[in-house]
Amino acid sequence: MTTRYRVEYALKVRDWPLLPLLANIAGLLAVPFVLHSQPTAISEEHGEGLKAVAADTHLRYAEIMKDVENLMLDHIHHHERNAPGKSKLNLLVPTVGTFFTQLYLEDAFKYQDRQRFISRRRFVAPSFNDIRLILNSAQVLGLVRSSDVKLVTFDGDVTLYDDGACLMPDNPVIPRILRLLQQDRKIGIVTAAGYTDAPKYYERLQGLLDAIHVSPDLTAEQKQGLIVMGGESNFLFRFDPSADARLAYVPREEWLLDEMQAWSEGDITELLDLAESALRACAANLNLPAAVLRKDRAVGVYPVNGVRINREQLEETVLVVQNTVQRSAVGSRLPFCAFNGGNDVFVDIGDKSWGVRACQRYFGGIDPSKTLHVGDQFLSAGANDFKARLASTTAWIASPAETVELLDELEESVHS
Ligand code: IMP
Ligand code: MG
Repeated sequence: MTTRYRVEYALKVRDWPLLPLLANIAGLLAVPFVLHSQPTAISEEHGEGLKAVAADTHLRYAEIMKDVENLMLDHIHHHERNAPGKSKLNLLVPTVGTFFTQLYLEDAFKYQDRQRFISRRRFVAPSFNDIRLILNSAQVLGLVRSSDVKLVTFDGDVTLYDDGACLMPDNPVIPRILRLLQQDRKIGIVTAAGYTDAPKYYERLQGLLDAIHVSPDLTAEQKQGLIVMGGESNFLFRFDPSADARLAYVPREEWLLDEMQAWSEGDITELLDLAESALRACAANLNLPAAVLRKDRAVGVYPVNGVRINREQLEETVLVVQNTVQRSAVGSRLPFCAFNGGNDVFVDIGDKSWGVRACQRYFGGIDPSKTLHVGDQFLSAGANDFKARLASTTAWIASPAETVELLDELEESVHS
């Protein structure tokens, strides 16, 4: 997913807030790469010289990561003090957001260098992908060292299981999630998949829900530590051992945030009508082999007869509908999220920042600095996980296997 092509393409089509930060770090690391890590003669392939070059490059990279770590710390302090003007990091990266915890970039780099041998490479410079993983590790260390993880929220597709698939009983993420529950941490599955009834979620999450149900290691209270937030921020379900679907719908009046109470049904219908007409116009214009699906709190286009819609068409559709709704009066009153789901485009009422905030509140008001959202959508047009960064710390993964690795890293960090 994070190919150079994709990054450059995304750079052209939209202003993605974290990208300049990654680009800056990649740019800084490119200097020692060019100066120290240049290809050597084949005869030196196994020589001591090569090891010395790698060790030197490692030191230079680590130094740079420490400098960026200090810039981030200065940025955090600047915010905390409410200091006038911009932080140094803000001058360098105007779109940079706030950080809820310190990010231990130097130690994270050392960890990822042991995993990925970044400083031994002589032909391939530190990539966006390397830096994405370093930032994830730095965030995990930040949560463990300067805060505490009380709530982990997970996206569904691509994060817990493959796109469009289900969470099967043999999924290695299941014992990791059970471990988190056993440590009295809370779990939210914050997915765009928007269904109004529990059996639909049971179908998608059966492996996990059954494992929690039969687990002899979890107390009844720990089992209640799992909730599912569907449609980004629209439908909440709690674990219910007495229900066939293992989930019970939680009425909105029990969990809606104060600001969400003001979202009127009239506005919701008006926004979805507008989005639907924009989607229909775009599907006709691009001749998409797609049908329109209107739901209670969402509207989307999805391909018919199992065909694939190409990425450019998907992203064009996202940007058209996003622009149309944003420019409307109702679009300024009501938050919404238009995103490319890999082979479909959906517009949901609300977004994952509201979804994560509602989970935090449901569990008694967990702080953003004690919440980690794990997701895959931080880059493509209208990436829906990116919004969670407004409400919590985040980890940007590229596959379900990376989610498992991240949870193991978290566990190791807690015990080290
Ligand atoms: P996520 O990765 O768990 O956020 O799931 C995103 C996918 O859920 C989308 O790509 C759609 O295929 C699917 N989906 C099903 N219902 C909805 C809905 O109401 N809104 C948005 N996405 C939906
Ligand atoms: Mg996803």
